[in-house]
Amino acid sequence: MGRLVIVSNRVAVPKRGEPAAAGGLAVALKDAFSSRGGLWFGWSGTASPEPADMVRHARRAGVDYAVIDLSQAAYEGFYAGYANSALWPMFHFRLGLLSYDRDQAGCYRQVNQRYAEKLMPLLRPDDTIWVHDYQMIPLGAQLRAMGAKQRIGYFHHIPFPPWAVFAAMPGAEDLIRDLLSYDVVGVQTNRDLTGLIDCMAQGTGMKVRPGPEVRLRGRRVQLRAFPISIATEEFSDLAARSVNSADAKRLEASLAGRAMVIGAERLDYTKGLPERFRAFAALLEHFPEHRGQVTYLQVAARSREDVESYKDLKREIETLTGQINGDWSDADWTPVRYVGRAVPRDTLAGYYRMAKVGLVTPLRDGMNLVAKEYVAAQDPENPGVLVLSKFAGAAEGLPEALLVNPIDAVGMAETMHAALTMGLDERRERHGAMLRRLQEHDVGAWAKGFLDVLEGREPANSAPERA
Ligand code: G6P
Repeated sequence: MGRLVIVSNRVAVPKRGEPAAAGGLAVALKDAFSSRGGLWFGWSGTASPEPADMVRHARRAGVDYAVIDLSQAAYEGFYAGYANSALWPMFHFRLGLLSYDRDQAGCYRQVNQRYAEKLMPLLRPDDTIWVHDYQMIPLGAQLRAMGAKQRIGYFHHIPFPPWAVFAAMPGAEDLIRDLLSYDVVGVQTNRDLTGLIDCMAQGTGMKVRPGPEVRLRGRRVQLRAFPISIATEEFSDLAARSVNSADAKRLEASLAGRAMVIGAERLDYTKGLPERFRAFAALLEHFPEHRGQVTYLQVAARSREDVESYKDLKREIETLTGQINGDWSDADWTPVRYVGRAVPRDTLAGYYRMAKVGLVTPLRDGMNLVAKEYVAAQDPENPGVLVLSKFAGAAEGLPEALLVNPIDAVGMAETMHAALTMGLDERRERHGAMLRRLQEHDVGAWAKGFLDVLEGREPANSAPERA
C-alpha cells in the first residue's frame, strides 16, 4: 500500500520531541500514518510580506511534514478574504454575511495553484491523496491538470447547503465542477449529502446515479457521508484525570457548590453565542430557582480576528456578558463567566466533566466535536446532560441529547431547566446510549471508513455509519 498524503490548509508540525497535536486530524490519522507512512502538506500558519518561496520539510514520529508560508497578500485574499468571508458564510447558510470580491476569489485559486505546484513534485505514483476542507476545493482539479493519476479524495468538514443557497456564490458552477476531479467527495451527514447531491445535479447538469455517484469519462465520483468523530477512549481518560488537576479543583472551589453549565468553541458567528447568552438570561428570568444557583462558563477562543463579522461578534458577546451580569449578579455570584481565549485541551476536558450541562447550540455546524467530547468526558455513574442544536451535524448521531432550536431563547431556557433538573436514571440512560455509539465509531473508524471507500475496499452503496 502506498503512502497517505494529507493536504489541509493548516498544518501544525509538532515540536521536536513532542507528540503530535492531540486533537482533530492528527489523532484520526495516527493509525493510518503509522502503518503505511505519510506526508502532510499545507500552510505553516505564518504569513509575511515576502515569504521564502520554498517548501520546508520536517519528520516527526514517522510522518513527513511539508509546509509553505503565505504572503501577506495571499493571507488576506485567500484566507481572511474568499475562504472566510465568502465560502464560510455561504456554506453555513449565512448569505447576509457573504462578502464577495472577485480579486479575492482569484487569489483563492492562485493559492490553491501554488499548493498544487509545490505538492506535485513530492508525490509518488502509488500515493493516496486526501484533501481537507473548503479552503482547498480546486486543488484536486489543479493536480489533475498537472497529470496526477493517483486516487484523490476530498472531505468537506463544514455543512453542505442545497443549490438554492450555494448558487448565490458567484462562480458556484466552477466550484461544484472542481469536485468532479476527486474520486470520493465526503461530507459529514445525510443532510449534507442531500445538499451535495442537489448541487451536483443542478450545478453541473449531470445525472447523480444510485451510490450515489456521478460518472464522467469512464471515471466515477462517489458521494458519501462520513460523520467525523473523536478519540473517545483517550478523551474519556483525559477528562477523568484532568478533573483532579489543580485547575479543575480551583474552578470547583470557586463554584461554591453551584451547578455549572459550559460552552466552549471558537468565537464564530456560526456557533450561536448571542442566542445562547440570551437563552441563559431567559433561564434566569423564567426559572427563578436557578438565580444564584447556576454559573455559566463560556470559553470562546479568538478566531479569524481580521474578518469584520468576527470583530462585530466579539463586541456583541462582551456587551451581552456585561448586560446579563449587570442584571442578575449578586455580590457573591456572577452568572456568566466569559473566558475570551483558548483553554488547553486537557484543562477543558476536566471542566466538561464537572459541568452539569454542556451547551452546544450552533446555528449551523458541520459536526461539532465539542458535543462528542462533552459526552466522552462525563462520569458514566453521574453524567451531565448535553443540550445540542438540531442544526449541528452531531445531532444526526446523538438523538439522546436534548435537541434545541437555538433561535428560540425561551424554548432553549426550558430545555436548560429540564437538563439542570433531570434525574439520575434518565441522565445515565441518555448518556450511556451516546457513549456506546462514540466508542464504536471513534475518529479512527471515521478515517478508515473514508480511506476504505477511496481505496476501493468497500462497496460504494453501503450505508454511512451513524455517529
Ligand atoms: C473549522 C474548519 C477548519 C478550520 C478550523 C479553524 O473547523 O472546518 O477547516 O481549520 O475551523 O479555523 P482556522 O480558520 O483557524 O483554520
